[in-house]
Amino acid sequence: MPTQNQPLQNRPASVRALSFSPRQVPLSATLAVNEAIARKRREGERVLPLGFGEAGIPIHPALARELESAAGRGAYGPVAGSAALRAAAAGYWARRGLPTDPSTVVAGPGSKPLLFALLASLGGDVVVAAPSWVSYAAQASLAGAEPIRVATPPGEGGVPSPALLADAVVRARTRGRDVRAVVVTLPDNPTGTVASEATVRRLCAVAREHDLVVISDEIYRDLVHAPERAVPSPALYAPERTVVTTALSKSLAAGGWRLGVARLPEGPFGRALHDSLLGVASEIWSSAPAPMQHAAAYAFAEPPELVEHIDRSRRLHAAVAGAVADRFAAAGARVPRPEAAFYLYPDFGPLRDVLSENHGVRTAADLTHLLLERYGVGVLPGSSFGDAPSALRMRVAPSLLYGEDDEQRHAALAAPAPAALPWIASALDRLSEVLEDLSVSVTTGEPALA
Ligand SMILES: Cc1ncc(COP(=O)(O)O)c(C=O)c1O
Repeated sequence: MPTQNQPLQNRPASVRALSFSPRQVPLSATLAVNEAIARKRREGERVLPLGFGEAGIPIHPALARELESAAGRGAYGPVAGSAALRAAAAGYWARRGLPTDPSTVVAGPGSKPLLFALLASLGGDVVVAAPSWVSYAAQASLAGAEPIRVATPPGEGGVPSPALLADAVVRARTRGRDVRAVVVTLPDNPTGTVASEATVRRLCAVAREHDLVVISDEIYRDLVHAPERAVPSPALYAPERTVVTTALSKSLAAGGWRLGVARLPEGPFGRALHDSLLGVASEIWSSAPAPMQHAAAYAFAEPPELVEHIDRSRRLHAAVAGAVADRFAAAGARVPRPEAAFYLYPDFGPLRDVLSENHGVRTAADLTHLLLERYGVGVLPGSSFGDAPSALRMRVAPSLLYGEDDEQRHAALAAPAPAALPWIASALDRLSEVLEDLSVSVTTGEPALA
């Protein structure tokens, strides 16, 4: 019997090393920065975790109770999800102006696998915004499709510029590509902004004219900082071709529970896509976890205690993202005002010369590497989101500053001025210190920008 300790040449051919390497699929950038920060923390370094898109608030106890009450559900259940969950999700969308037949809803273990399954079901290439959430382009490539990046209009993240979209689709088709879909994020990660209704309407017109499905990732929909501001879902303007996805991960901070839902279009195309999606789901995850589906049905029914919890988290995200934006602006970066979720997207273009001279920084990746290695500040370069590598933009996610434990996080949720809480204020001050150090000119010892 061969053992692991035998020299390779003495082993039978059946246990020799393989002659090829597996496909290179790097860890998703958001998860990778999280691991780098955790490693630094274990080594005793002071860190500022601003890289990972975790909502940073506690699970509401009522939601946890619902999950516990369903722990005994061990059966697989229907591939599309339970009737109770699909009805609750349909109600959730109907309250947002999108009347929904529960038969068009499909549940999955998070919206990420649902998005991948949608791309696999659609086949063909897909347009994504530049910048856009790290996983769309990566998933398209895994699905064998070409991600075609199209810049967003200024100040409106998440939606490819409609004028550039039309042009990009025509050019891609001319070189033989089979473009079938465009992905939008409303509100947006990484920029924390919400595209305007006018832009979304124009995008829908282009999608109709050029025969594209619109996949609208609305996972941050309930976290628009100004709650009265409506989110212009493409499902309002191009209902026959729009798929909407959402999940419990962000508004209820249950990312680890892995539960998402998709709303497919009605009509013949929607039904065919639904069947194909179920086919892919049946081969990959069979059904979303049954206890989670039970808890999600409760959540999508929007009981008052959860609505209040989301209201408080929205206020917390707005306060801290706003305070962090102020610190970046004070250091000389250009920062579009965060409008939703817990992200901001500062641009260090105005500090390019001093960053290059003092630190040899030429690209966003140089800058974020410097921030991580020298200062323990974990952020992600815009290039991870498909932005130009030389653009000195980065995504900053301040939600892990809310607290080290649930006691602090509850205090942050309850505080009228969360940025003044000692642990958040000290993180903000550390951030200012780092940013100031970055932008001080070596030659004069003076800040580069007054
Ligand atoms: C835009 C966007 N969509 C989807 C997801 C992932 O969602 P889920 O946890 O439902 O898989 C994220 C998480 O970071 C996200 O930012």
